[in-house]
Amino acid sequence: MKEYRLALVGATGVVGREARKVLEEMNLPISKYVFLASSRSAGTKIEFMGKEYEIQELKEDSFDEGFDFAVFSAGGETSKKFSPIAASKGAVVVDNSSAFRMDKDVPLVVPEVNPQAISQNHGIIANPNCSTIQAVVPLKVLDDKYKIKRIVYSTYQAVSGAGKAGIEDLENGIDEYSNGVNYDLHKFAHPIFNNCLPDIDIAMESGYTKEEEKMINETRKILERPNLPVTATCVRVPVFNSHSESINVEFENEFDLDELIKALKDSEGIIVENNLENHEYPLATNATGHNEVYVGRIRRDFSVKNGLNFWCVADNIRKGAATNALQIVKYMIENN
Ligand code: A2P
Repeated sequence: MKEYRLALVGATGVVGREARKVLEEMNLPISKYVFLASSRSAGTKIEFMGKEYEIQELKEDSFDEGFDFAVFSAGGETSKKFSPIAASKGAVVVDNSSAFRMDKDVPLVVPEVNPQAISQNHGIIANPNCSTIQAVVPLKVLDDKYKIKRIVYSTYQAVSGAGKAGIEDLENGIDEYSNGVNYDLHKFAHPIFNNCLPDIDIAMESGYTKEEEKMINETRKILERPNLPVTATCVRVPVFNSHSESINVEFENEFDLDELIKALKDSEGIIVENNLENHEYPLATNATGHNEVYVGRIRRDFSVKNGLNFWCVADNIRKGAATNALQIVKYMIENN
């Protein structure tokens, strides 16, 4: 069997560290791993698959030695500069940033949803936004069965999605509340502790945030429904990890609720937890550390024809980033 070579860019970040764990769990036929980050962490020693590795500084010649895959989680600017270099040296780039997601020539892939798009890559494949990935896994199942007419997203997003600085703002806010320790915000415009901030990524001219526009545009691209009416309100909440979402959908076709729930249960990558009487529904703390998308509170929206509400939770650093990217790599390995 062929052995592959993989470079992980941003290996010291929140997503990069989780990607190292997911790689250990997946145990893919990869014979060479290289871990790259900024000059700040160059030389740092890490343990991976029982061996010691040294973090290397990302430079223009980092990909000269030849890689099959380069997985990027080091922010948009780093991706814009270095992804084309990695691709030009023969690697297939799986990029976690938003730099290339809406490019016509770049597939935007969730393996349970549109694996067929992978083969159309020209060296770069984009990993969608974390909140979009977890939503489209169940939505694809429902779109295939009942044809979606409209989607309304309301998200409750964890601070880990804002990287190390986001996590520090919540930790410091808790420390101030408990111990009176003053702190400066590193990431958010307001304290995230004890607040919900409807302000993720930057403000757009439309009055939406970039995160909301990403959810709208990426959903349309992944589901191959370019004109689908979609709207979103994205909110950062004081939760360390795993995003929760309330999803309201209208379908063109009628549905039987039991059949709809069964279709979700039978689908790859979805775990249904749907027993309100017993207080069973997806929780951020339960989803953390897992690769699946959790779905519950599945009920009719009686205010419209063929309407549905459900609650959707996933580990935003795993399925929303590291796991999804590495599932793309795994799919390519398994399908040559
Ligand atoms: P470093 O740890 O050396 O700063 P997070 O999203 O958790 O903040 O992590 C961002 C990741 O991207 C880290 O691994 C970080 O490395 C890496 N990174 C940030 N800027 C650069 C850059 N200019 N070149 C290479 N890696 C970068």
